[in-house]
Amino acid sequence: MAVFLRALTLLTLTAIITISWIIVTKQRYNLLPKYVYYQMSNMTTTKGTGSNRIIETAQPFTSFVQDAETCPNLSNVYNVSEIYLAFDNWHTVIDDLLYVYSAHVDPRHKDNSIIRIIGIISRHQLETTSPVYYCQMYFDGSENVSVIESVIYTIGEHRKPKFRMIELACNVSRDPWSLPPMLVSITTQTCAEPNNHLAVRQSYKNGFKTNFTLCLDGVLKHGTTKSSLIVEWIELNMLLGAEHIFVYNLSGSALLDPYLNYYERKGQLTILPWNIPIQFNEDLDEFGHDFHLVWNYAQTTAQNDCLYRNLFVARHLAYLDFDEFIIPQEVDVWNWNDMMEHAKHNCTNRPGSYVARNAFFLTNEINDSNVDEFNLTTALHTTMNDRLKKPGFRSKHILIPEHVRHVNIHYVEEYYDKSYSTCVVLPSVGHLHHYREFTKKGSKHTNLSALKYKPYLIRQIHHVYDEIK
Ligand SMILES: *[C@@H]1O[C@H](CO)[C@@H](O)[C@H](O)[C@H]1NC(C)=O
Ligand SMILES: *[C@@H]1O[C@H](CO)[C@@H](O)[C@H](O)[C@H]1NC(C)=O
Ligand SMILES: *[C@@H]1O[C@H](CO)[C@@H](O)[C@H](O)[C@H]1NC(C)=O
Ligand SMILES: *[C@@H]1O[C@H](CO)[C@@H](O)[C@H](O)[C@H]1NC(C)=O
Ligand SMILES: *[C@@H]1O[C@H](CO)[C@@H](O)[C@H](O)[C@H]1NC(C)=O
Ligand SMILES: *[C@@H]1O[C@H](CO)[C@@H](O)[C@H](O)[C@H]1NC(C)=O
Ligand SMILES: *[C@@H]1O[C@H](CO)[C@@H](O)[C@H](O)[C@H]1NC(C)=O
Ligand SMILES: *[C@@H]1O[C@H](CO)[C@@H](O)[C@H](O)[C@H]1NC(C)=O
Ligand SMILES: *[C@@H]1O[C@H](CO)[C@@H](O)[C@H](O)[C@H]1NC(C)=O
Ligand SMILES: *[C@@H]1O[C@H](CO)[C@@H](O)[C@H](O)[C@H]1NC(C)=O
Ligand SMILES: *[C@@H]1O[C@H](CO)[C@@H](O)[C@H](O)[C@H]1NC(C)=O
Repeated sequence: MAVFLRALTLLTLTAIITISWIIVTKQRYNLLPKYVYYQMSNMTTTKGTGSNRIIETAQPFTSFVQDAETCPNLSNVYNVSEIYLAFDNWHTVIDDLLYVYSAHVDPRHKDNSIIRIIGIISRHQLETTSPVYYCQMYFDGSENVSVIESVIYTIGEHRKPKFRMIELACNVSRDPWSLPPMLVSITTQTCAEPNNHLAVRQSYKNGFKTNFTLCLDGVLKHGTTKSSLIVEWIELNMLLGAEHIFVYNLSGSALLDPYLNYYERKGQLTILPWNIPIQFNEDLDEFGHDFHLVWNYAQTTAQNDCLYRNLFVARHLAYLDFDEFIIPQEVDVWNWNDMMEHAKHNCTNRPGSYVARNAFFLTNEINDSNVDEFNLTTALHTTMNDRLKKPGFRSKHILIPEHVRHVNIHYVEEYYDKSYSTCVVLPSVGHLHHYREFTKKGSKHTNLSALKYKPYLIRQIHHVYDEIK
């Protein structure tokens, strides 16, 4: 009897520990949003794709801006050439306090659309003064300027640098499909003369353009000079499914220009200048991260810009750095699309993103049998560290933009709709190959899953080099 009771207690304890472990890990792995700001519109249940979907549920157009003030003394003085200049540039709102980069229409809320302005703000100011900023909105064909108070949302948090990455959100007309403003300016007083003008992007209007778009995770810095790695990265990602690539360029080396310009000319790559008006010291630490000012040159800001730029434009967005590849592992799984099809079966939820766990591939170990004229990173290094990191730790992902509210470096920070969450791809189906020098002790093994692309890659790279010559 005593033995039975002891066994029962042990069993109960094990059960409790297992259940609480499941709860804890599930919470961490699902990475559910902390807050949901807006109700999801009914768009997924209506017929049609892309832009057509929302037209069906949109409210009749009533006014330009709800509850907005107007500034009769500010007139719509901006003409098209100036608007053009306003695209894709950092603007100083207040020196040393607030900088903004881009403005996007988010049409996902059915009662009103929202202009989301991506930027960075002084942490000190944000935390000590609850600052108020206004969106002054300039419409095509109207002399009036509409002003509305913005709501500040913070994005990501890495250590505690001087600037925080933020989004300023401003409500605009009830009907997202008719006449959003052409320009928005951020000011500290309702009718103050603005010193910044952002063209409002309406990327969604033309409908889906790609199944997979890739955003460079991080910004391009002068330290990256190995053009062969960049070409391999672009070509392998295109084999895996990427149809377009976005690169945010802080201080890219001239050595890469011919290659990046080549892909840009072919319409496969967009280079966005990342001329952030802060004095960085790129050589400050071993990673080249001047994180005392803003984490990794406002990396998360660029990521969220890429998200909103591709909302209803890309069906999926992958985020990867130059030394990272999301590689399908099973023999019959060739690209990201196949990989996600496999992964879906193992999701307990509606996937809003697919997380690929991190495996380090040791660049200090060279597989001599794969040495050749190109010395492909993904062929030369076939030894991986046995331990995959947990999801959320160094993991990278492919997400479905329309379900995502904010993206962070290693996972989706917040979903737009709570019913979507993160699906972790089983390592046997696919995982992240992260190539880096790794001299720490630890068991390791050979993983040849990237080799299946080698012959195709070699052929492609030959072609690219011939064309660039
Ligand atoms: C969504 O829209 C459909 C069709 O218009 C309607 O029948 C349904 O009740 C709506 N569902 C919700 C939750 O609003
Ligand atoms: C607009 O300008 C006029 C003339 O300069 C001035 O009288 C008026 O007070 C101004 N209105 C506002 C709201 O600033
Ligand atoms: C538009 O702006 C440009 C540049 O500021 C200026 O040269 C031009 O005269 C303006 N055109 C009109 C019609 O205002
Ligand atoms: C501009 O605002 C004034 C005063 O609020 C209003 O009378 C006028 O109709 C508006 N004009 C346009 C083009 O919206
Ligand atoms: C937009 O308006 C809605 C009500 O229509 C409100 O609930 C929401 O908080 C507003 N959002 C912003 C960013 O102002
Ligand atoms: C996206 O994928 C579907 C199905 O695989 C395909 O039919 C379609 O052509 C693709 N779209 C683009 C823009 O490549
Ligand atoms: C990236 O930015 C640097 C610094 O502004 C510039 O010299 C370089 O030409 C840019 N590269 C591309 C491909 O645009
Ligand atoms: C993953 O899905 C496959 C096929 O549906 C199933 O056989 C397998 O047991 C699943 N594995 C896990 C860990 O859920
Ligand atoms: C390829 O790598 C091997 C081993 O590191 C090296 O000996 C060889 O010179 C490299 N070849 C080229 C073309 O870079
Ligand atoms: C590569 O490693 C992963 C994870 O350990 C494993 O699931 C997969 O089967 C391996 N593939 C090959 C071809 O070695
Ligand atoms: C090196 O690559 C070859 C395939 O080219 C493979 O057969 C071999 O197992 C690899 N060796 C090591 C040590 O990873």
